[in-house]
Amino acid sequence: MNKSTRKAIIAGNWKMNKTRPEAKELLEAIKPLVANAEGNVEVIACVPFTNLETAINTTAGSNVKVGAENVHFEKSGAFTGEISADMLAELGVEYVVIGHSERRQYFGETDETVNKRLLAAIGGGLKAILCVGETLEQREQGITEEVIAMQTKIALQGTCEKCIKNVVIAYEPVWAIGTGKVATPEQAQDVCAFIRKTIAGLFNQEVADGITIQYGGSMNAKNCAELLAKPDIDGGLIGGASLKAEDFNTIVQAAVNG
Ligand code: PGA
Repeated sequence: MNKSTRKAIIAGNWKMNKTRPEAKELLEAIKPLVANAEGNVEVIACVPFTNLETAINTTAGSNVKVGAENVHFEKSGAFTGEISADMLAELGVEYVVIGHSERRQYFGETDETVNKRLLAAIGGGLKAILCVGETLEQREQGITEEVIAMQTKIALQGTCEKCIKNVVIAYEPVWAIGTGKVATPEQAQDVCAFIRKTIAGLFNQEVADGITIQYGGSMNAKNCAELLAKPDIDGGLIGGASLKAEDFNTIVQAAVNG
């Protein structure tokens, strides 16, 4: 299947950055720059919980969509400090990042909790950006594919052919996140193609051909075009470079042209 029939998605992952006034300023700068991507490339800003309402108000009427960076798996109850899918959906949030490696690494997330969060997100009407990726040690041990297959299969347990349409997968090698050490376009392409093959095995070729797979990990204004030109890389999940309007826009434009 030709990549141009899939939805290209460029998503910023702001992580723990920006106060509300700063968020408004950045989004006001991004909006006019990326307006031409409408109908061609989906543009998303995944922002801290405290910035969600500001982001939704600031992007209203534009083609910039808003995402959260995590969601809890229960609907409600005694879970101090957590946020549910219903709370996010009611705000007008459309996307949520699930299973980011920083959540796995620093906050004890496992493939099982990632699965529960993903089911809660799509069950609550959100679209999930599911992150998978191997560590440097795992890559050097030659078990990248095993790790990616396991993370993908466990995260998607209990999903159906219909609801998988609300899932985007982001391949983010842990060793490339925030390190400036980007995967080569070939390395990124190989794993994205492998993820698509894994999806074909779990569902069927049609589902695999339709799912958007992003690359993330030190993607920036300089290296984005080469990565986004690869046949199985349908977009990017951008950390550091999403905090600068010009750089983020360069990546959006590379997707528009790619
Ligand atoms: P980075 O982060 O672009 O700063 O490497 C990517 C991510 O964590 O999603």
